Order: sequence, then structure tokens, then C-alpha cells
Amino acid sequence: MSQNYCLLSCIALISLLYFAAADSPYRFFDWHVTYGHVYPLGVRQRGILINKQFPGPDIISVTNDNLIINVFNHLDEPFLISWDGIQQRKNSFEDGVYGTTCPIPPGQNFTYKLQVKDQIGSYFYFPSTAFHKAAGGFGGIRVLSRPLIPVPFPPPADDFTVLIGDWYKTNHKKLKTILDNGKRLHFPDGVHINGRRANDAVFTVEKGKTYRFRISNVGLQNTLNIRFQDHKMKLVEVEGTHTMQQLYSSLDIHVGQSYSVLVTADQEVKDYYIAVSTRFNDVIHTTTGILHYQGSNHAVSGPPPGGPTTEIGWSLAQARTIRTNLTASGPRPNPQGSYHYGEIPLSRTIRLMSSAAQVNEKQRYAVNSVSFVPADTPLKLADYFNIQGVFRADSIPDHPTGKKMYLDTGVMGADYRTFIEIVFENKENIVQTWHLDGYNFFVVGMDGGKWSAEKRGQYNLHDAISRCTVQVYPRSWTAVYLSLDNVGMWNVRTQFWARQYLGEQFYLRVYTPTRSLRDEYQIPDNALLCGRASK
Ligand SMILES: *[C@@H]1O[C@H](CO)[C@@H](O)[C@H](O)[C@H]1NC(C)=O
Ligand SMILES: *[C@@H]1O[C@H](CO)[C@@H](O)[C@H](O)[C@H]1NC(C)=O
Repeated sequence: MSQNYCLLSCIALISLLYFAAADSPYRFFDWHVTYGHVYPLGVRQRGILINKQFPGPDIISVTNDNLIINVFNHLDEPFLISWDGIQQRKNSFEDGVYGTTCPIPPGQNFTYKLQVKDQIGSYFYFPSTAFHKAAGGFGGIRVLSRPLIPVPFPPPADDFTVLIGDWYKTNHKKLKTILDNGKRLHFPDGVHINGRRANDAVFTVEKGKTYRFRISNVGLQNTLNIRFQDHKMKLVEVEGTHTMQQLYSSLDIHVGQSYSVLVTADQEVKDYYIAVSTRFNDVIHTTTGILHYQGSNHAVSGPPPGGPTTEIGWSLAQARTIRTNLTASGPRPNPQGSYHYGEIPLSRTIRLMSSAAQVNEKQRYAVNSVSFVPADTPLKLADYFNIQGVFRADSIPDHPTGKKMYLDTGVMGADYRTFIEIVFENKENIVQTWHLDGYNFFVVGMDGGKWSAEKRGQYNLHDAISRCTVQVYPRSWTAVYLSLDNVGMWNVRTQFWARQYLGEQFYLRVYTPTRSLRDEYQIPDNALLCGRASK
């Protein structure tokens, strides 16, 4: 009886919270994008700054906030920012990739209107076109829980953004020219932490206190391993999902992924290394930042702590330990485990296989033999204005065909409100990392060898992690489940940036025949128009 009463009052409280959310706050940002000098590897280079900052400013928001970001492009080239992991519900127009949004011409501006609807967690933004990502223009995004929604750990003493990535000493325009000429890039020249050269990124802590570090790999291709000398990291969140909290002395962060860890300053008062190094390659680049205890007068010395190098099995085993805390709240007060993804029947299986080959004597990369070439008009705009001849839905098969690689503007159709399985298959000898815009998915399984339907027997249908970027190990597969509850044109891409640039991507067109504001917003009134949509 009293339990029922409590249940009712809880529901009343929850609906009150939702009512309040209808009037979510607006946060306004003016961003000026310019070139400027940067020194991530200690040598001066031309980078892309936002409001003179490199990396760009953090976006700090709360679930359901509206973010109004006016981006002024002062570069000499068109520019576009995308929001990795921000789902843009009903609103792929604001996604900021060339398939959905027209680039901002030099000297002009565009105001993105995003809502971090029903999300929490750690993400990043980045420039999505013209290989600008190799020059910077990225920054952290935090979506905090609303007050009253429980977070499964005590508030940390401070919250740090840690953007790590591999880096080239070569200017981004030169890198782009190499790719445009059909050549491959050499291995990156080094690694940075927050765009700083070695030991320049300093995080100050006080003995006895616990800190949150939001780590995103904003690099171009490499998995990076991070470790805090003599300290453990307690993993608490992955791309918007609270995890089963576990301690790690070293963590693999694949390119494009984001993790939150808690680190307690429980050691002797001095300075410690934060080491970040490349994985799965004979060449290992390492850089270091500093965990500085307040009052310390012992600088770091000696070699930074070593980490794993080429081991794959170690990484796979670690990946399997990353699971959802079913009883913790996510963006809503109800527990993350209340959505029983393992009990929903699948309506479709999509199998995606990457490949590398030469097409017309130029290096290209593909998914299911289709190497993506951009159309002359953003696909979403062509769809919206019903402009014929820009793309064909179903111009990419939903399983590997074994055909020779060919160029096309790959768009795959999918039905709104279906529940599907995607299997990423990797027969190559590198680690792949895949990202899907507009969604999180449940990572139900990954293993070595070839995928077949029987592998479903080993899926985690209970507490798989829900995230938006997932790795696929060499000669291995990774399977995800997802609910197609977000209408729009969504980019599916490798996070290996040269491969993305040379065709390893496509768009998933999540479609409903009825056009309704309930399912999808109208084109924003300030949308830039380009290509055949400009008429
Ligand atoms: C450009 O900025 C001005 C304010 O300076 C704003 O009124 C206008 O809407 C912006 N343009 C676009 C396309 O968002
Ligand atoms: C899971 O979340 C609950 C909060 O509901 C928290 O009390 C518990 O410590 C968490 N467990 C782990 C292993 O992270």
C-alpha cells in the first residue's frame, strides 16, 4: 500500500520534471574561427582556433538545454563543425556534416541550434570537412545531469577535459592534397594532450580529493592508451552511459571515443605523469601531461609509465569489462536498465565490411564495396526539397557483396521505429572504429574471426554498453543493436579520418512516409543553402 503511494508520488515528481524540461534554458555562444599558431608537437604550425583558443572552448550544458552557437568563419575555406555524439533528435539539419548541412562560406556565419535532448555525458565537437580536423577546431562537450536526477558517484572536486589525439607536423592543406592525389598519409608524427606539447598540459589536484577526467580521442587514426602514474582510473561514464564502476591502470581509447574516469589524489604530494601512447603499431609515439599535486615541489623525472603496445587480446578483454550500470540513472530518473534491449525482436540485420583498394589509380576506402563520394548538394536538403538526381536511396547494399570497389554516393534506407542489428566486419589487419550520428547503440558482441548468425549465442543481452563509437579489432567483428527512433539523414563513418575522407562512410536515411513535426523538425529558417538547393 505505502509502496504504491510512493510509486504514485514518484511518477508525479517525474512528470513535474518533464514539465519543467519543456522550457529548457537557452545558452548562447559566439564562436570566431581563425587560423593561428599552435605547437602540439613543440614546433610552430598553422592551426584552427575558436575564439583564439586551441583546443576550442568547452561547451558545458545540462540535459535538454538548447545551445545556440553562432559560428563565424574567418578562414579562407568553407568550414563546418559537427557534434560527435550529440543526437540532434528530429533534427539532422544541424548535424554539421556535408551530407546534412551546407558548409559556412569564408567570411560568413551560421547559427547552429542544437538541443542536448535526453542526453548526459562527455562528447566533443570537430570540423568535419576538408581535413580541417588535422588542424584543430575541436573541443569538449559536457552534458551534465539535471539537478534532482541522481548521479551514481559523489560530485568530483573538479572536472577536466582531456582531448588526446595523434598529430601531423604537416599543414592540413598539404595532407588534404596528398589524399586528393590518391596517396596515403604516412604515420602521424606524434601525440598531444589538449593540443599541448609534452608536459605542458597540467592538471592540478589536491591530496585526498577525487577528480573527473573526460577523455576524448580527437585524433585522426590511432587508438591511444592513457595511464596516470601510480594512480588508478575509475571508469564511470562512456558516451552518455554510466558504467559499472571499475578500476583500470590503463585504458584504450579508440579514435573518436569518449570516456569519463574518476581519479583520486591518494598518493604522496608530488607530480606524476599522465602518459598517452599509440597502440597497435610498431612505431609507438608517447606524450605526457602532468598530474600536479598542490604544494608539490617534486617535478616528474625518469621515464613515464609504460603501457600495452600491440596486444589485441588485452584490449578486447578490457572492452568486454565495460558494461552499463543497470540501476544507475541516465538522463532520466528511471534506471538505465529499464529499457530491455535484449528482449526486442530484430527486424533487420545490416552487415558492413570495410575495404581498401585503388580506384582509377587512386587510393580509396569503402563500405560494402561502395566508396563514398559527396554529392553536389547536401543529401538531407535534396531529400527535404525533393530534388531528384542527387542520391539514390539504397545505393549501398546492406551486406558485403564481394564486388570490386566502386564510387557512389552511398545512402541506405531504413524504416523509422524498427529495431535492428548492425554487424561491423573487419577482414583487414588494422583496428577500425565506427561512429553513427543521431544515435547510441548497444554493443552486444565483439570477437575475433568471421561473424555468423550463431555468434548471437554469445551476445550480451543484459548490460551491454550503449554508446555511439565502437572499435572492431583486426580480422574480427563487432555487433550492435539499435532502435531507429530518430528520423533523418545520419552519417555512418569510420573515425580513421583519411579513410573517412577517401570514402569509408555512407548515410543511413531513417525514413517515415508521413511528414510530421512529431517525428522531424522543419528545416531551420536560417539554414544555408548550397548546390542545387540554393535555387
Ligand atoms: C549570422 O549572425 C547574425 C548575428 O550577428 C545573425 O543574426 C544571423 O542569423 C547569423 N546567420 C545565420 C545564417 O545563422
Ligand atoms: C551502480 O549505480 C548505483 C546507483 O544506482 C550505485 O549505487 C552503484 O555503486 C553503481 N554500481 C557500480 C558497480 O558502478
